[in-house]
Amino acid sequence: MKTPKTLFLLEIIENMAESTSKSVLVLHGPNLNLLGLREPNHYGKNTLADIDSLLAKRAKEANISLQSFQSNSEVELIQKLHSLADKKVDFIIINPAAFTHTSVALRDALSAIKVPFVEVHLSNIYARETFRHHSYFSDIAVGVISGLGAQGYLLALDYAIQTIAD
Ligand code: DQA
Repeated sequence: MKTPKTLFLLEIIENMAESTSKSVLVLHGPNLNLLGLREPNHYGKNTLADIDSLLAKRAKEANISLQSFQSNSEVELIQKLHSLADKKVDFIIINPAAFTHTSVALRDALSAIKVPFVEVHLSNIYARETFRHHSYFSDIAVGVISGLGAQGYLLALDYAIQTIAD
């Protein structure tokens, strides 16, 4: 039987495990909140909540902490990256969405915080309009996954898990 004292000790142990466990941040850029409704021919039928829950499940199995954050605002995405200065994050998975092709500011924020990241795109940006062929992120990313749909996020997470394992 778990006495109050045992429960208290269990809580301390859980908190210690949490504070020492590795952590991954998933950043989703503008319009990705519309996944499921938005151009399913390019982006598939999964909603963002579906993708985030697949990622959360995989992270839990691997005993790492995972946080997902979506914003339509460049400012909020940059501020999220700046906030990592005081919170330890070991790896970032980012789909900058349309900011891929426009945002020097978001690129600079990633360079500044020096956390390794994989760039993910649901669609194959190289098989689409030429303005999508240029990314401000690919040359500073550890790698790029483009065109594998929601699976791309899971592959990026598997890579992150292997890379940050002790
Ligand atoms: C995208 C591709 C971008 O060109 C587009 O602006 C997006 C989504 C993708 O996941 O395929 O919003 O990043």
